Amino acid sequence: MTVGIPIRRLWPEPSELPLDDAALTRLYGRADRPRLRVNFVSSLDGAVSVDGYSAGLSGEPDKRVFGLLRMLCDALVVAAGTLRHEGYRAVRLDERRRAWRRANGLAEYPTLVVVSGTLDLDPVQAALADAPVRPIVLTHAGADPPPGLTDVADVLPFGADRVDLAAGLDELHRRGLSQLLCEGGPHLFGALTAADLIDELCLTVSPLLAGPGPGRITAGAATPPRQLPLRHVLAADDGVLMLRHARP
Ligand SMILES: NC(=O)c1ccc[n+]([C@@H]2O[C@H](COP(=O)([O-])OP(=O)(O)OC[C@H]3O[C@@H](n4cnc5c(N)ncnc54)[C@H](OP(=O)(O)O)[C@@H]3O)[C@@H](O)[C@H]2O)c1
Repeated sequence: MTVGIPIRRLWPEPSELPLDDAALTRLYGRADRPRLRVNFVSSLDGAVSVDGYSAGLSGEPDKRVFGLLRMLCDALVVAAGTLRHEGYRAVRLDERRRAWRRANGLAEYPTLVVVSGTLDLDPVQAALADAPVRPIVLTHAGADPPPGLTDVADVLPFGADRVDLAAGLDELHRRGLSQLLCEGGPHLFGALTAADLIDELCLTVSPLLAGPGPGRITAGAATPPRQLPLRHVLAADDGVLMLRHARP
């Protein structure tokens, strides 16, 4: 079934016909080993937000792939900053996507994983309080959970005074959460890049000049550049490009 604005593959093999959800699901897929996939949307001139939010960069084709990537993952990893700022709600999928997960032997919903150094998290925020699966918070041993947080989430410390992301991801894998989707934000992406933990970047490029001001999709201390080869290029009829880059 194809809905909304048509999306076609430009590369490696151009598709004449729009890609339906089954074709998009095959193109993005799941891996047969643990994988950390990161998904971002950016403006043409590299902005991570418009007026402070990602919504101004995202249209219907991006939202379609965004939802599909959530359907494909075991856990959705997000930085506390983005969770707070974007007011994350509980991760829910529609019945069609839940049915796909059941048919493919997956839990009905992905697990939400929040990365926080300060544990400045509100236990009544819907993303935590209303989650269909008990969320996980990755933090470090020096952080004290605020009242109520451990009632709604598993709070797991890795590292003495900063989050050891590699050890945290290993624990997710040990819990059977092998296909990880990270939705940002920039500081978490920067830290994951620094730790060389990124297997894949799905990047939607919005045909928009946001102008000076907003940050990039990555932030934090400088790291050596890393190659991430191109795997596919999709284009939507509204001019949006969708790039998938992944490690060999
Ligand atoms: N365009 C897009 O696709 C997209 C996607 C996501 C976000 N955004 C935008 O990005 C902006 C938010 O960015 P941000 O600068 O707040 O960055 P962020 O990475 O979302 O959040 C930073 C916060 O998350 C936690 N965190 C991140 N990395 C961590 C690490 N390695 N260890 C421990 N904690 C870590 C910390 O929270 P604590 O303070 O709790 O320690 C830190 O203060 C918003 O404007 C949002 O709209 C855009």
